[in-house]
Amino acid sequence: MNATTETLANQTLARPNFDVDKIRADFPILSREVYGKPLVFLDSAASAMKPRQVVDTIRDVYENDYSNVHRGIHYLSQRCTDRFEAARETVARFLKVKDSDNLIFTKGATEGLNLVAQCYARSTLKPGDEILISELEHHSNIVPWQMVAQATGAVIKAIPILDDGQIDLEAYLALLNERTKIVAITQVSNALGTVTPLAQMIPAAHAVGAKVVVDGCQATPHMALDLPAMDCDFFAFSGHKVYGPNGIGVLYGKPELLAAMPPYQGGGEMIDFVSITESTYKDAPHKFEAGTPPIVEAIALGTAIDYVTEIGLEAIAAHEHDLVEYAMDQLAQIPEVTLHGTAPGKASIVSFTWKGAHAHDVGTIIDRAGVAVRVGHHCAQPLMDRLGVASTARASFGMYNTRAEVDRLVRSLDDVRTIFA
Ligand code: ALA
Repeated sequence: MNATTETLANQTLARPNFDVDKIRADFPILSREVYGKPLVFLDSAASAMKPRQVVDTIRDVYENDYSNVHRGIHYLSQRCTDRFEAARETVARFLKVKDSDNLIFTKGATEGLNLVAQCYARSTLKPGDEILISELEHHSNIVPWQMVAQATGAVIKAIPILDDGQIDLEAYLALLNERTKIVAITQVSNALGTVTPLAQMIPAAHAVGAKVVVDGCQATPHMALDLPAMDCDFFAFSGHKVYGPNGIGVLYGKPELLAAMPPYQGGGEMIDFVSITESTYKDAPHKFEAGTPPIVEAIALGTAIDYVTEIGLEAIAAHEHDLVEYAMDQLAQIPEVTLHGTAPGKASIVSFTWKGAHAHDVGTIIDRAGVAVRVGHHCAQPLMDRLGVASTARASFGMYNTRAEVDRLVRSLDDVRTIFA
């Protein structure tokens, strides 16, 4: 590393209210060592670390306010119900959704996408109807549509990407026609970091009468969102990627669509009236929340969202954008590295391969230097096929990462060179 790079690496980015050291202090796990080296955690796209505030909420609910929700007239049940529903309101503010009844708590984005596929698509699609999914999609936004296509006779078509990982907008527009009923698209690619052009894609889908399902998993931690402005029909995300607990996610649906959809699962608390032979159902969101929900997880998701909101998504996005640019610049200077996904304005993810080495070997070697990245196909096998690779190494950034950690990543790759020389 030369002197200029060193200076850049250590500089404090001039961003009011964004203090990465203060943020890091809220994440005790980031101070641990692995193999005797300070941890460099570059795998937040798989699951983000949790700030102390989220862990404190979990402890606080279990120690002070825990009870089942929507079931009891006793003090704790009401208290816990209030905190659970307050979390739904927090999510609504986060997504700028006016009515929190349009937000269903799920166990994660995967469940949300399956819910849309099974409850909306399965009851509306006819043979020959078309579902468009992009080559960027995570398996969670592919397999549920295949299951529905098999059940209904609908046809899946792929929205192609350009070589840099951007959606091929022209090809997308050419695919849209009166048979297109669903466009299922990620907002940010989990494998490349590409931000998709939803502002153009959604109105075009609506113009042919299609509904748009957005996988917002990799967007929620990295950019300010406004679902009414986006005008998607459904939007799913996972709590654990936005610094919240595992086992909680949220599905947004437009109210008229949720009202017309049959329930996902039957069980307690989703019903109005039950006899031995038939039942009537509550309105959304309860119609889709059968059984005891992930109560504490939902409340702690509210804390996670308060945490990122307090720091500010714009400041987080600017910090992470700087890290992506810096990492891309540094990695591009290494002759053995090929970067995959070079679309402008990428969010928080850098994917690469090393000439002559399998990504798993790269990941294993740099892990010994304390650097945690994800390697493999990233649950995006069609994308790997499109890129002509079996797997990549992926560094993904959270708000707590630093340029100095990017430098550690780059230095750790010297060990790969030594072994594969
Ligand atoms: N979807 C997660 C990832 O991309 C697990 O790593």
